Amino acid sequence: MQLSNNALAFVYLVSGALFILGLNRLSHPSTARHGNFYAITGMILAIVATLLHPAVESYTFIVPAIIVGAIIGIVVALRIQMAAMPQLVAMLHSFVGLAAVLVAVGTYLSHAHEGTLTVIFMTEVFVGAFIGAITFTGSLIAFGKLQGLVTAAPVAYIGQHWLNLMLGLAMLGFGLYFAINGHFVSLLIMIGIALLLGVLLIIPIGGADMPVIISMLNSYSGWAAAATGFTLENKLLIITGALVGFCGAILSYIMCKAMNRSFISVILGGFGTGDAADESGVAAATQKGVKSSSVEDAAFILLNASKVIIVPGYGMAVAQAQHALKELVERLEDKGVEVKFAIHPVAGRMPGHMNVLLAEADVPYDLVFGMDEINPEFNSADVALVVGANDVTNPAAKRDRASPIYGMPILDVDKAKHVFFIKRSMRPGYAGIDNLLFYQDNCSLLFGDAKEVCEKTVAELKAA
Ligand code: TAP
Repeated sequence: MQLSNNALAFVYLVSGALFILGLNRLSHPSTARHGNFYAITGMILAIVATLLHPAVESYTFIVPAIIVGAIIGIVVALRIQMAAMPQLVAMLHSFVGLAAVLVAVGTYLSHAHEGTLTVIFMTEVFVGAFIGAITFTGSLIAFGKLQGLVTAAPVAYIGQHWLNLMLGLAMLGFGLYFAINGHFVSLLIMIGIALLLGVLLIIPIGGADMPVIISMLNSYSGWAAAATGFTLENKLLIITGALVGFCGAILSYIMCKAMNRSFISVILGGFGTGDAADESGVAAATQKGVKSSSVEDAAFILLNASKVIIVPGYGMAVAQAQHALKELVERLEDKGVEVKFAIHPVAGRMPGHMNVLLAEADVPYDLVFGMDEINPEFNSADVALVVGANDVTNPAAKRDRASPIYGMPILDVDKAKHVFFIKRSMRPGYAGIDNLLFYQDNCSLLFGDAKEVCEKTVAELKAA
């Protein structure tokens, strides 16, 4: 069976609408499942319609490739740890980049064979190939940094930006020469330079800045797909590519804004490489004049509170403490304590990180509040319980002009009557700086793994 051009255009239109609807529904945890359902339906329709495209003459290679790809995809999705999600996304972007390069070269060769090369077509090939090549190697380096295969520290050397500029100009030069003359070797040289640029643009960026870069590479992969859509004259690929391109760009902007960093400063790298000195435990705290507390004391104060605000952060994700935390909330609610969650837009290491984990633990959505909603409530909270968060609570962002996070909006945890701060050591968070909150009279540190501390606190609450 083959679809007519009109039928194909109609199915692609429906798929595009489903993708947009899916994105819309992904904007809130309570509708996110529907969003995924719409997007999956759109993708199935798009794949089936493309398989029925008149240009598809044989399924001999396509069907086995789909089966093998689907099996790999299912196994990876089932086995991936939540904390390793950013590197998986980076790896997937690299596939999009590679596909864009291969499609560009393949389509050029077939048009050259048919003698149907035009300047416009070759410009499309050039654009798809260079964005794809940068996305491919850039995403591989991002994956390597997050996975610990490549050093997470920024790699800097003299003349770095000049070298990148020269390579960028050379890439454009060869690309334009190819677009005008159809010179295949120029295309290959241009792709080679773009592959090198992908590496050189990402190595100066600190591993901790990778989430923003991944979102930017996400955007690039969208533009690569859109360019491929023009090359293949596939309207759905153009729509989907543009959606991904804009979403990635908007997300990068939102992340930078929530961290009060300019996108350029992220790209130039060097902020928070995660290589902080090991300052473990109570001794380091005492030396710095920081109070530590016991689980028993914390449980006692929690039980006597009327309102508790919980602030989860990256440490909750590392410890996978969300289920223990859910139980803690239930115990407190049983005792008549009002409990709310406060979520900072960049808590954790990827957008929505905390929301996903809390949803996984079945924490009701109506207990979860964004920063702007919850900040006025810290004044009236008896306890703020910080679970593996750090930078997003650091008052240095408001008070210390010299701090690298100065100006970043934070959760006003310091205004609560008591603050209990669960972490394992005196090591800093992502930004690599001391938290001024630790030195406040109302703050006590509860040292330990977030999951273990939450479980012990639950046991104390049960025994009370
Ligand atoms: P961080 O400031 O990174 O602090 C995490 C804290 O968790 C650390 O102090 C760490 O202290 C503690 N921790 C780690 N493992 C733990 C465990 N098993 N049990 C208990 N505690 C543990 O996290 P945050 O407050 O969520 O802030 C996020 C940071 O990442 C921000 O600076 C943000 O700008 C940045 N960032 C976020 C994103 C997105 S999109 N979310 C993207 C890029 C960058 P110990 O080692 O002492 O335990």
